[in-house]
Amino acid sequence: MINNQLRIGALISGTGTNLQAVFDACQNKKIHGRMVFVGADRPDAAGLEKAAQHNIPTFVVDYGAIISAHQKEAHKIPHPADGELNRILKKQTLFGAHTDPERQKRFFSTRILAEAQLLEKMRPFRFDLLVLAGFMRNLTPYFIDKVNTVSDRPRIMNIHPALLPAFAGTDGYGDTFRYGCKVGGCTVHFVDYGEDSGPIIGQKAFAVQPGDTLEDIRKKGLLLEWQLYPECIQLFAQNRLRIQQKTHTTSTANRITRRLVTILPAPDTSR
Ligand code: GRF
Repeated sequence: MINNQLRIGALISGTGTNLQAVFDACQNKKIHGRMVFVGADRPDAAGLEKAAQHNIPTFVVDYGAIISAHQKEAHKIPHPADGELNRILKKQTLFGAHTDPERQKRFFSTRILAEAQLLEKMRPFRFDLLVLAGFMRNLTPYFIDKVNTVSDRPRIMNIHPALLPAFAGTDGYGDTFRYGCKVGGCTVHFVDYGEDSGPIIGQKAFAVQPGDTLEDIRKKGLLLEWQLYPECIQLFAQNRLRIQQKTHTTSTANRITRRLVTILPAPDTSR
């Protein structure tokens, strides 16, 4: 942190409305921080333009191009020396044991290649927190471990368009609509080795009214996302988020251990 200002890096894939909300919150001092870079996984991500308008440095790592080059000529593309595949496969929880091992290897080989480039592009920037703002790629332990260097101090956040743990994946509002949920919402969480499975920081919910279309649901959800993300980032900026491991025994004697986020009370500024 410089002058108590959180340095925020962002990764996006699309329009970047959450990026805009975070940027606005920095301007309005709802977040004591500033954006130091915006990266995208595709050159046509509209949010890149928004970032450039605000003079925030941008970069692109074209995941699509990396994946298709790998499909054509995998043998010609050197794998990062520190990206030992078996170690990463053992750590990851994106895929279960039932998933075809060859598919897993292909997935992680290409993602590690892309993530090595992401890390390279991020290297010039010092940042305290990395926010995924509509970034539609799963990150692997290769990348996560290089960003989260202090144990139990995660510093990658994601916003997800559903009330986790329901509807992990890419289409939370669509899933909420199709399932006939009467309540929808959004979740901000730290990123772990699984898909949308990391410790939850904050959630907001809305009522689904009879006759609501998918578009209505998406609009209600996005309005809440733009409030929730800045609130959670400000909690991080205030150093009020702690990871705690809790173990519970269920009525059927199963022991469940999870890492949870505890939110510390706001500092008393009256004294
Ligand atoms: C948002 O609903 C976000 O939760 C999801 O992608 C959507 C688009 O975000 N991950 P944005 O407009 O690009 O910020």
